[in-house]
Amino acid sequence: MRKVIIAGNWKMNLTPSQGVALVNELKPLVANADCDVVVCVPATDIYAVGEAIKGSNIKIGAENVHFAESGAYTGEISADMLLELGVEYVIIGHSERRQYFGETDETVNKRTLTALKKGLIPIVCVGETLEERESGITEKVLKRQIEIGLEGVEDLTKLVVAYEPVWAIGTGKTATAEQANETIGFIRKTLAEKFCPVCASQVRIQYGGSMKPGNAKELMAQEEIDGGLIGGAALKANDFAGIVNYNK
Ligand code: PGA
Repeated sequence: MRKVIIAGNWKMNLTPSQGVALVNELKPLVANADCDVVVCVPATDIYAVGEAIKGSNIKIGAENVHFAESGAYTGEISADMLLELGVEYVIIGHSERRQYFGETDETVNKRTLTALKKGLIPIVCVGETLEERESGITEKVLKRQIEIGLEGVEDLTKLVVAYEPVWAIGTGKTATAEQANETIGFIRKTLAEKFCPVCASQVRIQYGGSMKPGNAKELMAQEEIDGGLIGGAALKANDFAGIVNYNK
């Protein structure tokens, strides 16, 4: 069975002290969770938040990783740098990186392969824009993102996929549970064709986009949905805990 994974994506929010305050509030609220609980935080927060979650069931993730081992890449952060701070997960190819920072399927692929080689668990984001959905090319876009983004991956079960329809991110518009389930089903079918049916049935696929305590239960009840990648609602301890404890 696939273990549910609920991950927060803080984006460019919260200073180290604000991040520590949030996880300190969060710890008792999620202590009895039966899913994996992850907070993906800005690079500047990793050390302090990592210290604050020691001994708890909360795991830490980063929001990006460079594909080179080290070198002349001013402003970038390597896998080894993250690993030394106890980072276990890393978001790769978030739509905001694709939209504002020139991320492509090819760079997603390079980052993913490096993260896997180093033992980080990539959370690889895929998703269509509103324009793409309305022109009926959602499946074509997702297939391309998967085909190129995950090319050369040896063990699919070592990563997590996040399906985030771009039109649902930060907009308050959620894909209906059925829509999300159907699209994630398509992603799994594509993974089965590219890799193998058994590994596709084992890989965890999250939904992301305006997920909150009020809609988490319905989304999580869908057969294909194995968790959530949470933006806005991850910035409030009660909201994030409400999603983590969706089944309680
Ligand atoms: P949201 O963001 O929950 O604020 O829609 C999700 C994400 O971008 O990962």
